[in-house]
Amino acid sequence: MKVYLHMKKLLILISLICLSNIVSAADEPSPAALAGANGCLICHNASQKLVGPAFKSIAEKYQGQSDIQKTLVAKVRNGGAGSWGKIPMPAHPDVTEENLNKIIAWVLKGSPAN
Ligand code: HEC
Repeated sequence: MKVYLHMKKLLILISLICLSNIVSAADEPSPAALAGANGCLICHNASQKLVGPAFKSIAEKYQGQSDIQKTLVAKVRNGGAGSWGKIPMPAHPDVTEENLNKIIAWVLKGSPAN
């Protein structure tokens, strides 16, 4: 519980830092930047399991499932556990549908750096 509260503070802090970067950026943010700005990278990393599964593992697991995008967008929006273990992902009601779609599409492509 203590760890979770600490993470929540960190999440808010990092979100604020990333948000200020986005506001000052002239170009449209990349999916990777969106993942950072929306706090995803606090629990996820491209290639290593953190609190949540590595983005590359997610891409592998759902490879070839053409209808998975919508399911994963809903999962991130509503949060939940059970696909990877007992640790739940919190809900993300404040991430826009558009941004969530961009981030998930990028994750499913293997989260390329550029
Ligand atoms: C507080 C930690 C945390 C944050 C923040 C977080 N996740 Fe997760 N995420 C998890 C955990 C834990 C799981 C595994 C859930 C499960 O087992 O069903 C997960 C699972 C996922 C999955 C796979 C879901 C499935 O059913 O296979 C996707 C995709 C995902 N996260 C994307 C995101 C995105 C995009 C964001 C940012 C908007 C995000 N996550 C933010 C912890 C987090």
